[in-house]
Amino acid sequence: MSVSIVQQVTARAAAKVNLELAVGPLRADGYHELSTVFQAVGLYDDVTVTAADDFSCVVEGRQADEVPLGEDNLVVKAARRLAELHDVDRAVAIAIRKDIPVAGGMAGGSADAAATLVACDALWGLGLSKEELCAVGAELGSDVPFSVLGGTAVGTGRGEKLAPVLARGTYHWVFAFSAEGLSTPAVFAECDRLRAEHHDAGARDPMLGHSDVDLLAALRSGDAARLGAALRNDLTDAALSLQPSLRETLEIGHECGALGQVVSGSGPTIAFLASDHEHALDLAVALTASGVAADARRAHGPVAGARLFSPARDS
Ligand code: C5P
Repeated sequence: MSVSIVQQVTARAAAKVNLELAVGPLRADGYHELSTVFQAVGLYDDVTVTAADDFSCVVEGRQADEVPLGEDNLVVKAARRLAELHDVDRAVAIAIRKDIPVAGGMAGGSADAAATLVACDALWGLGLSKEELCAVGAELGSDVPFSVLGGTAVGTGRGEKLAPVLARGTYHWVFAFSAEGLSTPAVFAECDRLRAEHHDAGARDPMLGHSDVDLLAALRSGDAARLGAALRNDLTDAALSLQPSLRETLEIGHECGALGQVVSGSGPTIAFLASDHEHALDLAVALTASGVAADARRAHGPVAGARLFSPARDS
């Protein structure tokens, strides 16, 4: 009897938006204590792992030329770490197909790492739980555990400690992409600089761990208008300081009747909340026509975290 050995697995992972991001002071380890509400949204990267003699990585799709290759890519670190932790004496060639913007504040790199963990877990037959994959993810980056989990969740610590949140209904988002990315460490550093300038050493610290009551109530009731009014990100001033043209993008969405707008993570992507599918279409057209955003894309949330994907069946 012949036994067929799986040689290749594909996993898909979603982008995220931060509905709320409260940033506390800088910690001794170089991270900021934060309290955030993540939502996974329907923009996806696909990662295919193939049994190989050495670890490697190639990228195709949106902004592929801006993604680091080889050992510098988080996916290689993810696969190596998983192999090391579980005594797997095998390597993988990793192929990423990108649709999530690079350096866009939507956890594109983290999504790729999460998809790699899920794909390698299946290829190597490890049978790990989501919690176990999240624990490995936390070693790789603050947003990787959420990319594994998906849905809507509160994140504390540096963003890696997660608690799922009840979110009713589906939210219609429009994302305005920038021509230039922003580096996450640079935006956090700018936040510290602005706070020092204003003698504000992390004004929201007392709130950390207590996500905005209104925002959580809006999610529980599925009230998009209430959610729109509660969106908030402490990194907004820092992102606008590094990329002043984002102010214009925010204004256009506001003028077009978005229920709310927020810089996604450390930016520069801006998320606009629409009332329904049609409204999202109108907003996307207005943002594209204005010429201030490099591109505008619609996506709904919440969606699932990283999962196995069969291109023939699911696409
Ligand atoms: O965890 P990750 O590698 O994604 O973080 C990238 C950088 O973003 C960190 O090195 C740090 O400069 C900044 N960061 C932070 N506070 C957090 C998360 C990230 O200052 N909670």
